[in-house]
Amino acid sequence: MCGEPLIEVVNLRFRYEDGTAALDGVDFRLSASETVALLGPNGSGKTTFLLHLNGLLQGEGEVRVCGLKVEKQNLAAIRRKVGLLFQDPDEQLFMPSVLEDVAFGPLSAGVPPEEALRRARQALAQVGMAEACDRAPYHLSAGEKRRVALAGVLVAEPEVLILDEPTTYLDPPGQRDLVALLRRLPQAKIIATHDVNLARALAQRAVFFERGRIVSDGPVEELIERFGWDTSAASGS
Ligand SMILES: Nc1ncnc2c1ncn2[C@@H]1O[C@H](COP(=O)(O)OP(=O)(O)OP(=O)(O)O)[C@@H](O)[C@H]1O
Ligand SMILES: [Mg+2]
Repeated sequence: MCGEPLIEVVNLRFRYEDGTAALDGVDFRLSASETVALLGPNGSGKTTFLLHLNGLLQGEGEVRVCGLKVEKQNLAAIRRKVGLLFQDPDEQLFMPSVLEDVAFGPLSAGVPPEEALRRARQALAQVGMAEACDRAPYHLSAGEKRRVALAGVLVAEPEVLILDEPTTYLDPPGQRDLVALLRRLPQAKIIATHDVNLARALAQRAVFFERGRIVSDGPVEELIERFGWDTSAASGS
């Protein structure tokens, strides 16, 4: 376990190669066992921000996870602590079978094969995909891919879960199961989502992104109201 804060980001700035300024001075802290929802319009920088938390992108400013600076010599340790579910599951699945895909993490961390497969089966059962062990990931439906990718994150038992639009493609029972599963998990979580019901169900705190900055940080319900983010609120009523 690591001390406080779990994640600390100071004045993070990032520009993509084509010149797009995606992050423009982000400050953020996450405490142990806290769940925070990342809200904000399309293109406001949520995914770009999350990709900095395990060093897939590195911008200017400072990012620390469990006190470790996100830089080359710490990346292996940081990636064991941070479990990242990508917005696009196709970026996450690459082995010939579902079981091998989920077992890949523990196997490459040195867990003996039999134990790695046992953990992989257990993680697949957690996401309701136990029956799919022998299937090819690229033949799965979008929602099934999402579940398998999540199993691949959970199997490593990271200290913090970072979920980029986790309910996309999930059917309504799948969304409810995901909420129930995430509620049972003790880890701190950062969840980028347009799904306000998911944000409400899991997070007390939210931050709101706009044009590469966090423009508001507070109770989830307050932010949903302030930014008119409630999808069920009929216009004009
Ligand atoms: N690979 C890339 N190259 C250039 N620009 C990019 C790239 N990826 C994202 N961007 C740009 O960076 C900005 C932030 O994008 P990002 O994907 O972080 O937004 P987001 O808040 O996650 O949006 P969404 O809600 O649609 O998922 C946008 O202007 C986007 O067009
Ligand atoms: Mg995104």
